[in-house]
Amino acid sequence: MTNSHAARDIDTSRPHSARLYDYYLGGKDHFEVDKQAAEKVAGVFPAIFVCAGENRAFMHRATRVLAREHGIRQWLDIGTGIPTEPNLHQVAQSAVPDARVVYADNDPLVLKYAERLMRSTAEGRTTYIQADFTDPEAILAAPELHEALDLTQPVALSLNALLHFVPDDLDPYGIVARLMEALPSGSALAISHCTPDFDPVTWQTLVGIYVAAGTPAQVRSRDEVGRFFEGLDLLEPGIEVGHRWRPEPRQEGATEPTDTEVSLWTGVGIKP
Ligand SMILES: C[S@@+](CC[C@H](N)C(=O)[O-])C[C@H]1O[C@@H](n2cnc3c(N)ncnc32)[C@H](O)[C@@H]1O
Repeated sequence: MTNSHAARDIDTSRPHSARLYDYYLGGKDHFEVDKQAAEKVAGVFPAIFVCAGENRAFMHRATRVLAREHGIRQWLDIGTGIPTEPNLHQVAQSAVPDARVVYADNDPLVLKYAERLMRSTAEGRTTYIQADFTDPEAILAAPELHEALDLTQPVALSLNALLHFVPDDLDPYGIVARLMEALPSGSALAISHCTPDFDPVTWQTLVGIYVAAGTPAQVRSRDEVGRFFEGLDLLEPGIEVGHRWRPEPRQEGATEPTDTEVSLWTGVGIKP
C-alpha cells in the first residue's frame, strides 16, 4: 500500500490508539478527535503521561539488554506506533549497528510515517509492514519480513503496549505462542502491558473510554501477563512494574514514579 492510499484510509472521525499514545508522548501526529479522547483519559488518570514515558523507557532498556547481553540482532516489533525518536531500531543499532528490525502496525497513519522507521544504519536493515497482530500467518508469510530477517537465527518479538488492545476473545495467548513457535531457540519475547492491579476502578473507567471510542481493550493482572511467557525462561527480575525492570539511573532531579502511576507489567523471556 502506498502512502497516498494510507492517507485516504486514515479515519479522523474517531480516536485511534496510536494517535492517543502520540498525544501522551507529546507528539504532533494526532487529530482533534484524538486530543479530546486523550484529555478525557488524562482527566481520569493524570499519570497517563508518566505511564507512556515509562513504557517507552522500558522498550529502550529491554532492547539494549537483548542486544548487549543476549546476542540478539533481529527484532519483530508489532504494534510499533507512530515513530517517536529514538525508535526501536535506533536503540538497537546504537548497541549493535547491524541490527535488523521489522516493524508492523495496523494503523494507516503509522504506515504514512513509516519512512521515518526505515532510516537504518548501512550495516543494518529496517522495514515496515502494515499488518494485524490477529493475523499471525500473514505476518509470518510477509515477503518483507523474510527479506529483512533470517528466521533460522534468534529474533526478539517485541509487543510493547499492544496486547491490552487484544481482548481474550481474539486469542492473544494463542497468537503469541504461534509467533514464538516460528522463531528459533534463543529468540526472545518482550512485553509491556497496562494493568488494573494498582487501581482497578480507574482502569475500569479507562477501558470504558477506549471501548466507547471503538477500540477494544482489556487490561490484565500480573498473572495474566505472566501467562504470555509460558514455556520461556524469564530474565531477571521476572514480571515487574515497568520502571523497576532493570532500572537505569534517572536524570538528576527526576522523581521516581509510583507503581500506580506506571501501571504497566513488563517482562522479557528467552525461548529455550
Ligand atoms: C500504545 S501504542 C504502542 C506503540 C509502541 N509499541 C510503544 O510501546 O511505544 C499501540 C500500537 O498498537 C497498534 N495496534 C493496536 N492493535 C493492533 C493490532 N491488532 N495489530 C497491529 N497493531 C495494533 C496501534 O495502532 C498502536 O500503534
